Amino acid sequence: MIRTRIAGTGSYLPEKVVTNQDLEKRIDTSDEWIRERTGIRRRHVAAEGETTSDMAVQAARRAMDAAGVSADDLDLVVVATTTPDKVFPATACIVQRKLGMAGGAAYDIQAVCSGFVYALDAADRYIRTGGGRNVLVIGAETMSRILDWDDRSTAVLFGDGAGAVVLQASDTEGIISTHIHSDGSLEETLHVPYGVSTGYDTLCGGKAFIVMQGNAVFRKAVSMLGEIAHETLDGNGIKKKELDWLVPHQANMRIITAAAKKFGLPMDRVVVTVDEHANTSAASIPLALDIAVRDGRIKRGELLLLEAFGAGLTWASALIRY
Ligand code: ACO
Repeated sequence: MIRTRIAGTGSYLPEKVVTNQDLEKRIDTSDEWIRERTGIRRRHVAAEGETTSDMAVQAARRAMDAAGVSADDLDLVVVATTTPDKVFPATACIVQRKLGMAGGAAYDIQAVCSGFVYALDAADRYIRTGGGRNVLVIGAETMSRILDWDDRSTAVLFGDGAGAVVLQASDTEGIISTHIHSDGSLEETLHVPYGVSTGYDTLCGGKAFIVMQGNAVFRKAVSMLGEIAHETLDGNGIKKKELDWLVPHQANMRIITAAAKKFGLPMDRVVVTVDEHANTSAASIPLALDIAVRDGRIKRGELLLLEAFGAGLTWASALIRY
């Protein structure tokens, strides 16, 4: 039986840092309000001309180094992003070119903040069914380009970055199960109201920004994360105490704490990095995973629960023996 293991992780945050104090100078907000309501201290913002694929490639190279694979070894690249470089081709194809990968396949997945776990789900099934042996899965976002920096209800929440993993066919346990869900009836809870087919340029003059019902997202996120955590563990006959780490979508410290509390997991088993980079959407889980692997928190053989929620609404989880 073919299984899928994580062979290496990598991440990238752009050089430019925007602190809460920097935002205080531009909008009616305060460092205290942002930290109390979200836990965020700073976010990284892509440089002028720096694109989603540029950040994706940086994270990918680090994951490939960690896994000991080259571009020639890769069979597939999947990029989860809601902020692609171009309308087409897929950002994954641009990453493929930049990595110098001659063969294989590449495509994007769009499930906003759940995108990386959706991409893990697709890549795991591809490997298990014999599609290929090495798959690069990336979450990368330039959220700064779909933010209204004068809207205090959203500007304080998001940042840019990328995270990646190399998945490899294996005969030992790795990805144990993945679970994906969506509810399109909640589309307007969190969205960018314009796109190509709705007349992006004429309707909003190119100003297509995130619009969010913050309280509704908060309530839904906590209940969805609680439900999917139980679905994942119960589906595998695993008890909470067997989990070593919860690696949640890094949207907001209060959501993370409330979800962990509802699930009954102590915070010392939850990976939290949102203070350093804010909500980087599809990049947030692979970023948190890589940071915790590199600082020694997450070790080989440990049991991880990844869980995400995002616009759609979408929610997803993965149970992984690292
Ligand atoms: N600075 C200061 N005051 C602010 C700010 C700000 N940046 N933003 C809002 N306020 C004010 C509001 O105007 C309001 O003032 P009022 O009482 O005078 O009307 C007050 O603060 C409280 O506003 P609420 O919206 O009720 O604040 P809340 O406690 O709900 O916190 C927050 C807002 C942080 C956005 C919260 O609702 C939340 O975390 N929601 C989830 C957001 C999220 O994670 N979104 C990403 C989802 S993932 C994805 O797919 C992209």
